[in-house]
Amino acid sequence: MLADDLKTLLATEYAFVIKTQFFHWNVEGSDFYQLHKFFNKIYEEVYDNSIDRTAEYIRTLDEYTPGSFERFGELSVITGQLRVPRARLMLEELLADNQTLIDLLNHCFDSAEAEHQEGIANFLAERIDAHSKWGWQIKSFLKENRG
Ligand SMILES: [Fe+2]
Repeated sequence: MLADDLKTLLATEYAFVIKTQFFHWNVEGSDFYQLHKFFNKIYEEVYDNSIDRTAEYIRTLDEYTPGSFERFGELSVITGQLRVPRARLMLEELLADNQTLIDLLNHCFDSAEAEHQEGIANFLAERIDAHSKWGWQIKSFLKENRG
């Protein structure tokens, strides 16, 4: 059901934003400044362009949105990071989480199409594009950090 898929998406987007912000605050090493800025760009883009819109689409479908750490923790398919990884491991973890988000977005897109919610499907397609771009950029950082 699309509304339930969007609740999972909302929680997972939040988990992704929180983790990226956590990395922004705690990254260290020779690439500190670049990564600090890069992580900032990611969480701002995801927050600004997806969180509120996802929540309001849930309301459009006449369901209430989740809105607590506890509920988001239950729903998110991305797990939180309790430790502070090295910079390279932060990038590897974000790349994997970003792919998890793309897979979830594709699943939501299929549900939207099945329920003839073309507007929501368009929004989800935009978000797949945005995360594909983040995936490419994260991968590019990993190449520079090789060795
Ligand atoms: Fe900051």
